[in-house]
Amino acid sequence: MQRIDQAGSFRLGDYDIKRLGYGAMQLAGPGVFGPPRDRGAALAVLREAAAHGVDHIDTSDFYGPHVTNQVIREALHPYPDGLTIVTKVGAVRGDDGSWNPAQDATALTAAVHDNLRNLSLDVLDVVNMRFMGDGDGHGPAEGSVEPQLAALARLQDQGLIRHIGLSNATPKQVEQARGIVEVVCVQNQYNIAHRDDDGMIDALAADGIAYVPFFPLGGFSPLQSETLSDVSARLGATPMQVALAWLLRRSPNILLIPGTSSVAHLHENLAAASVELSDEAVAALNGIGVTNAER
Ligand SMILES: NC(=O)c1ccc[n+]([C@@H]2O[C@H](COP(=O)([O-])OP(=O)(O)OC[C@H]3O[C@@H](n4cnc5c(N)ncnc54)[C@H](OP(=O)(O)O)[C@@H]3O)[C@@H](O)[C@H]2O)c1
Repeated sequence: MQRIDQAGSFRLGDYDIKRLGYGAMQLAGPGVFGPPRDRGAALAVLREAAAHGVDHIDTSDFYGPHVTNQVIREALHPYPDGLTIVTKVGAVRGDDGSWNPAQDATALTAAVHDNLRNLSLDVLDVVNMRFMGDGDGHGPAEGSVEPQLAALARLQDQGLIRHIGLSNATPKQVEQARGIVEVVCVQNQYNIAHRDDDGMIDALAADGIAYVPFFPLGGFSPLQSETLSDVSARLGATPMQVALAWLLRRSPNILLIPGTSSVAHLHENLAAASVELSDEAVAALNGIGVTNAER
């Protein structure tokens, strides 16, 4: 049994969360659309994660759509004490699988109700407001976030949301949002090779706010690097474990949600909690990363 407690915990709003969690996006069908290829395997991944003490699951009702939340409910409801489910709103899926912004108050209210219904919850633990950005949609773009946060604040006042987070946000948007609501976490793209948010991570850590990197393993094309392979081989660990261990070491406010549809990969990822990196290993791994300015 992996000891994920070794990775430590962090206070997210009023929940104590283990720093090693699970991201459920990979449980929907190809392209995060439609049912999983093997529903039994998807249920098994979730149950295995919970059995190993995972107490933080990241999801959205736009995965599938609806499918991922329904699989979580089937696997784990009634939910174990202490499980925190973090979801996100801000998009809807087209019939062709496209991801379309859905950010007005009506759409956000509908999304919160979709999450409540499909997860069988009365209150959502944490809702991340996912901004759509530009380009491939995984990078943030400036713009006022007041209308979206005002809408989520109203849903929070109605008792439907306990905590609010942000996703795909710039530092300026984080600052603006924090003037409107209490922000407990920021979920942006970040990993050992993609380090645009280095400054934001340190600023959030100073204020006790969690930073939850999406694509911690590189996303749809998992990370590949000679340095990562060399360091892993020396440690007797796998490259994915070292990529996660590096994130755990990077800052105490980083919470991990690696995604997988495979029980074997889940076990491998959870075992990252006990991978110890020497200072020399960290120095070598730090050389992998680039920021936007360097690209
Ligand atoms: N806020 C946002 O905009 C946003 C965007 C994307 C994702 N997310 C969240 O972040 C979570 C993590 O991101 P992600 O799942 O897209 O990317 P990820 O965790 O970086 O990587 C997942 C990919 O790595 C593979 N993988 C996982 N463990 C592995 C291992 N030990 N060895 C080899 N390959 C492995 C998975 O394939 P297998 O299934 O074959 O293991 C999958 O292809 C998601 O699940 C989702 O909850 C949020």
